[in-house]
Amino acid sequence: MNPDTVYRPLPATFTARDVMRDAPVIPVIVVHDVAHAVPMARALVAGGIRMLEVTLRTPVALEAIRAIAQEVPEAVVGAGTVRSAADAKAAAQAGARFAVSPGFTVSVGRACRDLGLPLLPGVATGSEIMMAQDEGYDALKFFPAMQAGGAAMLKAWAGPFAEVSFCPTGGVSPANAQEFLALPNVACVGGSWLTPADAVAAGAWDHITRLARAAAGLARPGT
Ligand code: 3PG
Repeated sequence: MNPDTVYRPLPATFTARDVMRDAPVIPVIVVHDVAHAVPMARALVAGGIRMLEVTLRTPVALEAIRAIAQEVPEAVVGAGTVRSAADAKAAAQAGARFAVSPGFTVSVGRACRDLGLPLLPGVATGSEIMMAQDEGYDALKFFPAMQAGGAAMLKAWAGPFAEVSFCPTGGVSPANAQEFLALPNVACVGGSWLTPADAVAAGAWDHITRLARAAAGLARPGT
């Protein structure tokens, strides 16, 4: 999404593919202090990134999701690090509108479907892709992308899994994002670089807006 354009309204129900298509980068966010959640979300939205993955890795993660959902209407907050059906339920109750998981299990897949929560399940092997497809998922997170084979792995998967769209995450940075985004089976990438811990701790929201703006402006020639 061009940061200078107005956000297109999302339909009442949207899919994981819609989440992936919205912008070139999904920020992977770790919130340690709930007071940071709302200004951080506003900073990202101001830079053209509204799909926000708040990871369930800290004690305040659900509270952060709730705060963003209530106070930043332009943002579409999702939960990351969803590892169980209980995580999915808690995230949805807090206001998460999509979920991202580091791996795939049938129970997480079914829980998200029952909750109406679009899910980007994590995969790192062909068997995991096939299990996710068996459960109806074909918009997948490739995690951990760099450690599990990087762009070369995605090129190899484009043959047998041509219909699958990926969001590589893990070791993706401004230095290599464009290489991933050029691939026809990559819709977007995920990464933590938009919300560096030191910038968040310092309340450097303008810096985060600049990082978001640069990310939002990345080209996606592959899609
Ligand atoms: C994570 O789970 O932390 C994400 O994959 C982010 O990884 P990154 O810090 O390498 O972007």
